[in-house]
Amino acid sequence: MRLVDSLERPLRDLRISVTDRCNFRCTYCMPKEIFGRDFAFLPRAALLTFEEITRLARVFAAHGVHKIRLTGGEPLLRRDLERLVAMLAEIEALDDLTLTTNGSLLTPAKAHALKAAGLNRITISLDSLDDAVFMAMNDVDFPVAKVLAAIDAAADAGLSPIKIDMVVKRGANEQSILHMAQHFRGTGHILRFIEFMDVGNTNGWRMEDVVPAAEIVRTIDAAWPIEPVEPNYYGEVAERWRYVDGAGEIGVIASVTQPFCGTCTRARLSAEGELYTCLFSGVGHDFRALLRRGAADEEISAFLERTWGRRADRYSEIRTASTPDRAGSAVRRKVEMSHIGG
Ligand code: GTP
Ligand code: 5AD
Ligand code: SF4
Ligand code: SF4
Repeated sequence: MRLVDSLERPLRDLRISVTDRCNFRCTYCMPKEIFGRDFAFLPRAALLTFEEITRLARVFAAHGVHKIRLTGGEPLLRRDLERLVAMLAEIEALDDLTLTTNGSLLTPAKAHALKAAGLNRITISLDSLDDAVFMAMNDVDFPVAKVLAAIDAAADAGLSPIKIDMVVKRGANEQSILHMAQHFRGTGHILRFIEFMDVGNTNGWRMEDVVPAAEIVRTIDAAWPIEPVEPNYYGEVAERWRYVDGAGEIGVIASVTQPFCGTCTRARLSAEGELYTCLFSGVGHDFRALLRRGAADEEISAFLERTWGRRADRYSEIRTASTPDRAGSAVRRKVEMSHIGG
């Protein structure tokens, strides 16, 4: 059954967070002052098991989901993730099964295991090629070379096309834009620049720190001319561009300056089984409770139909129209990015 929400948007993608933990402390996502030693992460028993995740994924697939992305926190912190991948890969209605990772745990063996289990492709985050800049952003002194090795491991394993996600923050890494573009031109990997967003309540977001996608496009175009490319699919988040000289493609994700809520087909499941109908939602819908009290598939389906049917979220459009220029100021509480994986 094909489901649409109150704004006629179908349910197409499911993003599943498998853990709320991460071994990085990116300043724009899990700032150390908040996510410190005493932070209360979810206890193991609270996490959905692989069996529970797969059961929900089947119900979602029956309602139009055809793409699943595994996220975190850092999804590779979840032990034996390839076992979950193998379970999800058996769902016939899915035509895309992918993963977003910081690459820190992506060894060649892990990359091959994920591929063998049925993962189609992978997205790896990297904010700079300069160790000082990257380390200041990941805030755990993680070196660039190890992420580059992970990208190579993913390519060797055939997890392509590989996308490289770079969050651009004014004053932090905007000077790395051209260097990143130069490095990934001609590799077949797709570099994507993401506007720094006001997700969560703790990342100190300010409009002044957003480098608008239009500015990023101008910067690249001045060095290597680029031209726009049609979207791959309805509701694609990234706006695509290709180098006129044939050196491949880049993307920009302009969620602040050019919001794309009108075509947003994404649902997000947290590691504890709460469904969020928007990246900026304050509350989730508790699917774990249903699972753990033994609900039948029909009941889970009905809950999903109600939840998605009522959905009216379009936070990014509203924020751009009316928001204060500082996230959180007099605004309601939002879920943290590390809780639902971006
Ligand atoms: P493809 O499947 O390769 O097209 O990638 P994707 O764009 O669906 O997924 P990815 O996880 O790589 O998204 C990249 C980033 O875009 C995320 O980390 C978020 O920062 C941002 N993003 C993705 N979806 C949304 C969304 O629904 N709303 C907003 N505001 N930002 C989003
Ligand atoms: N703004 C934009 N993107 C973010 N991410 C995390 N926090 C933010 C933010 N504040 C994205 C990055 C990272 C992915 C896991 O989540 O793309 O690569
Ligand atoms: Fe971890 Fe990714 Fe958040 Fe960085 S952006 S802290 S790598 S979940
Ligand atoms: Fe979708 Fe919410 Fe992002 Fe808009 S802000 S694109 S509704 S997740």
